Amino acid sequence: MLLEGLMKILVVGGGGREHAIIKAIRKNPAVDTIYALPGNGGIAADAQCVPIGATDIEKIVAFAAENEVDYAVVAPDDPLALGCVDELEKAGIPAFGPKKNAAIIEASKAFSKSLMKKYGIPTAQSKTFTDMGQALAYVERVGAPIVVKADGLALGKGVTVAQTVGQAKEAIRDMMEGGKFGASGATVVIEEYLEGPEVSVLSFTDGNVVIPMVSSMDHKRAGDGDTGPNTGGMGTVAPNPYYTPEVAERCMREIFLPTIKAMNAEGRTFKGCLYFGLMITADGPKVIEYNCRFGDPETQVVLPLLESDLLTVMRAVTEGRLAETEVKFSDKSAACVVVASRGYPVKYQSGYEIVLPETGEGREIYVAGAEIKEGKLLSHGGRVLGCVAVEDTLEKAVKEAYRVADAVKLENGFTRRDIGKRALDALNK
Ligand code: AMP
Ligand code: GLY
Repeated sequence: MLLEGLMKILVVGGGGREHAIIKAIRKNPAVDTIYALPGNGGIAADAQCVPIGATDIEKIVAFAAENEVDYAVVAPDDPLALGCVDELEKAGIPAFGPKKNAAIIEASKAFSKSLMKKYGIPTAQSKTFTDMGQALAYVERVGAPIVVKADGLALGKGVTVAQTVGQAKEAIRDMMEGGKFGASGATVVIEEYLEGPEVSVLSFTDGNVVIPMVSSMDHKRAGDGDTGPNTGGMGTVAPNPYYTPEVAERCMREIFLPTIKAMNAEGRTFKGCLYFGLMITADGPKVIEYNCRFGDPETQVVLPLLESDLLTVMRAVTEGRLAETEVKFSDKSAACVVVASRGYPVKYQSGYEIVLPETGEGREIYVAGAEIKEGKLLSHGGRVLGCVAVEDTLEKAVKEAYRVADAVKLENGFTRRDIGKRALDALNK
């Protein structure tokens, strides 16, 4: 048994998601030190930031060993895909997150599509191409709308929903000839266009059981009314009103359990947070994508609703004891409004001073992109803050999250003004 207040935790990553994870872990009284690698200027208020990049696996493992870290959490996709958890475990450090051979469920869309096909998990029909001529001929034949995806990791930007054959061809050429996403785009997946509301479901799984967290809804486009370029996510709400108990039951039966079993059958047991990106189509729920990690900014609305202790749940996942561990969520609602640098995700400037407002009970400001210079907190990156409110109703949560976001002082900051609108419209229908 570890003594109270003596645990050392290491969190790999440095965005708003990691800030939310760190604040939740901090609630466990057994935790003494939390190291964030690399963290950021805002996370520095809650953890010891160490300037080691999230993909510098060798240095991460060496740091963890030297500092006798008791438990590590690997949050971003890149280090997971590079085998960070495997290497930490080899060094005797237990870690939250899938091993490299399971992280492939996100790292290769060609892999995840073939997994779903093989095990009958509902998803858009697709074909995978390594030859550009064949890919071009295929879209010519099947027509638009159609979806073109880079096989590998592309910071959430490797997907083109093409309304015309011309757009689809351009996307294919950019990926396969123009090298737009480097090696990630050498293979492309071309997919049937699906329609319906989208739902994000993060889940805990230890390979034996899968426990879905409260559902959420992301807002991926930069502009109001879902216009403008795709971003990492401009805001989230939880729960997602489209995720009804009936849908949840179908997802468990047709998607969640079959996925866990499929990964086991492939010798790729998944332990960690498995994120299901779902579309609720007229034919039922279908998988749009899997992520091998907590979503960003989904985590910022999901973890504030978690009533159980996060660290306890994470360690149960690592040790395969999830079935006997309570994972309880509040029935309140949460909203997160992202404050981004004007021009994000295309072209933006950093280095503006951020002045945070006072926040009270049920409010959080998670810092996604900031650094400290001469004692001042300065913006650093596209997404700067995630302003979160937890309330009894979604309507109040959205209103209060905007109140916090609007009280932030950041000269070149901008927010989408309609976070939660679609969810509220669905609730009021
Ligand atoms: P992804 O990066 O895979 O999450 O895709 C980004 C976004 O593209 C998704 O959130 C959807 O809005 C859209 N998308 C992806 N696949 C499809 C599809 N097969 N049909 C329609 N929209 C899609
Ligand atoms: N918000 C979507 C993601 O984390 O991939």
